[in-house]
Amino acid sequence: MAERRMSPVLKWAGGKTQLLEQIAANMPASYNHYYEPFIGGAAVLLGISPTQAFVNDVNEQLVNLYTQLKTAVDSVIRMVNEMDARPCDKELYYAIRELYNKKIAAKAFDAECAALMIWINKHCFNGLYRVNNRGLFNVPYNNKVNGKSIDEDNIRAISEYLRQSDITITCLDFERACDGIA
Ligand SMILES: C[S@@+](CC[C@H](N)C(=O)[O-])C[C@H]1O[C@@H](n2cnc3c(N)ncnc32)[C@H](O)[C@@H]1O
Repeated sequence: MAERRMSPVLKWAGGKTQLLEQIAANMPASYNHYYEPFIGGAAVLLGISPTQAFVNDVNEQLVNLYTQLKTAVDSVIRMVNEMDARPCDKELYYAIRELYNKKIAAKAFDAECAALMIWINKHCFNGLYRVNNRGLFNVPYNNKVNGKSIDEDNIRAISEYLRQSDITITCLDFERACDGIA
């Protein structure tokens, strides 16, 4: 089991990293099942790291990201590193955003789509996730030159955690995701 402290891979609006200590302190001492119907950046899941959990989000891209980190972490890391090896400018950002939108339009949920999501999250304005009415990602470039888009040790620790624990990942509306809660 991963021993290092894990942290979110994405910057995500409403992320709970700053509130993690308070959330942990207010959790019951024992519980049967851990449900997180709005997983978002997964700050709470990764901070608490229960050995069994049902996690969910309505965002298909986000759910694909966690699924790929669980099943194809080496491919995701390799593809992000390949993108990072190219100096980033406006032209590259918009070319990669277009590629990402082609994957979204094709509903191509795979390791490449997850790698594109991570890279874009680091290079878009404020780490926002915003789509238009056709579901295509439309956040502009952040105009910054960034270094690495990932912390490989952290991503590998997350992958190991997702594989070695009993984590069910779903992409449903929260009401359906909570159906099984007794
Ligand atoms: C504030 S974020 C969650 C933050 C997360 N708890 C953390 O610790 O980083 C909210 C998430 O809820 C998801 N969401 C919004 N409406 C939803 C719905 N009806 N059903 C399921 N997920 C939904 C969004 O896609 C977003 O990822």
